Amino acid sequence: MDQVQAMDRMYRYQKYIYDFTRKYYLLGRDTLIRRMDIKPDENVLEVGCGTARNLLLIAKRYPQAKLYGLDASTEMLDTAATKIRSTPYADRITLTHCLAEDLHHQRTFGVEKPFDKVFFSYSLSMIPPWLQALHVGLENLKSGGILYIVDFSDQRGLPKWFSFMLKRWLAMFGVHYHPELLVELQKLHDSGQGTLQITSLGGHYAFIAEFVKK
Ligand SMILES: C[S@@+](CC[C@H](N)C(=O)[O-])C[C@H]1O[C@@H](n2cnc3c(N)ncnc32)[C@H](O)[C@@H]1O
Repeated sequence: MDQVQAMDRMYRYQKYIYDFTRKYYLLGRDTLIRRMDIKPDENVLEVGCGTARNLLLIAKRYPQAKLYGLDASTEMLDTAATKIRSTPYADRITLTHCLAEDLHHQRTFGVEKPFDKVFFSYSLSMIPPWLQALHVGLENLKSGGILYIVDFSDQRGLPKWFSFMLKRWLAMFGVHYHPELLVELQKLHDSGQGTLQITSLGGHYAFIAEFVKK
């Protein structure tokens, strides 16, 4: 089964309860949105936007930002489009069906220049070619732009039984923590390709990474 089918199967029924059930356990999404500091007219892309929960909050907080979202799941995109239609932000949010690893700002969205900001919110841990998706995200980011990631961490500050249960439960949903992700970001920082800042949340339950591309 390919990733589009897998994600559609995963979210066919979950899309109805997604926002409510993920409200607390996808920790750090609101912190990230507050930190983003989006300037007027900046183009911002969410990779794996799901139900557009984040894009709608960003649209409200940053009234002049132009927002783009892509996702592998047509089920999630249908829910997102329905939600967006009933808000005053519809003309500032563009959604498309695309795999993270296939993104190209011009071909995918018809946007001439690379994005000012690109973010992954709990999506890299679900994307099988996550390393490729990370690099494609960076390729589609302008020089001086910021790549943000919020996702699960290693839970080393939490009881072992909790971490064990959480990892098993997440694996049932195709979610996997990749310790190599932070190593890769650090390599990019060390090789002078940008500047990395990591914030740990809730006893290393989750992390926020901000990478300013050189
Ligand atoms: C856990 S949800 C997160 C949704 C949203 N970012 C949020 O914070 O609520 C992960 C999303 O990533 C999407 N996804 C998984 N693999 C993908 C891929 N290869 N390309 C694009 N999106 C993908 C899923 O369909 C799903 O909507």
